Amino acid sequence: MFEPLPFDCELRTRWVARPLYFIAATASTNSLLRNLPASPGGTVILTDYQFSGRGRRGRRWSSAPGSGLLFSLLLPPMPTRNLSLLPIVTAVGVARGLEQYPEVTPLIKWPNDLLLHGRKIGGILVESEWSGSESSKTIVGVGLNVNDDNDHLDHVEGAASLSAFTGTVVARGELLATVLQALEDAYDAFLQGWMPHEEWSQRAKVPGKRLWVHSSEQVPWKATAVALGEHGELIVHNCVGETISLRAGDVSIRTMSPESIP
Ligand code: BTN
Repeated sequence: MFEPLPFDCELRTRWVARPLYFIAATASTNSLLRNLPASPGGTVILTDYQFSGRGRRGRRWSSAPGSGLLFSLLLPPMPTRNLSLLPIVTAVGVARGLEQYPEVTPLIKWPNDLLLHGRKIGGILVESEWSGSESSKTIVGVGLNVNDDNDHLDHVEGAASLSAFTGTVVARGELLATVLQALEDAYDAFLQGWMPHEEWSQRAKVPGKRLWVHSSEQVPWKATAVALGEHGELIVHNCVGETISLRAGDVSIRTMSPESIP
């Protein structure tokens, strides 16, 4: 089922992507990894094309064949108390990896979208399987628009690809090695007690960001970001100054455009 990588990739990681598998096409690397029996923590599945790529909150993730970086990583077992911050730690790790490229300064949109100049170039989907109150499998799926051309991305609202900002075709093997290394460093630090709140907040320009909050039940409402909460929730003030805690599974946010800020 698995094949050799379609590009050179010089991995320097200790446990992330040990092993690293490549499959030319699959429905979703998160789903494939979830169903792969007896895999060690660190296993990564990379693909060139997903025909049913999944995003957060039931959305789809689509990328033209051979253009993006689409992979899923199986994390080693970790204390349940750490799980809620994994989307945040992962976003910081991927941002650090992208930042290795000149002129690339990614921002994070809560909880874990990667943006360049206000356009989404990457997303993260963390999924855990539970047995009782313990998590038995946690999979981190990362999708980056790397060399996608505008024809493809024009259909996806607010999306852009990394190459539009670097000005050249990005070597995906090099990018993969850089991002996997940055992820390993972030997870290692996290497991040794580092907390991502401060760095995430700088990269997300929180506090002070003006937002629209979208939930399925209510009309969108205005808020101002106050802080990232202990467990990765976003703490905001609404327009009458009440403090509200937003959970990523319940709502999405849109950054307010400068012209609509009173
Ligand atoms: C989002 O922004 O909504 C998250 C997108 C996550 C996409 C990645 S691509 C690799 C992995 N496999 C999937 O089906 N989804 C994630």
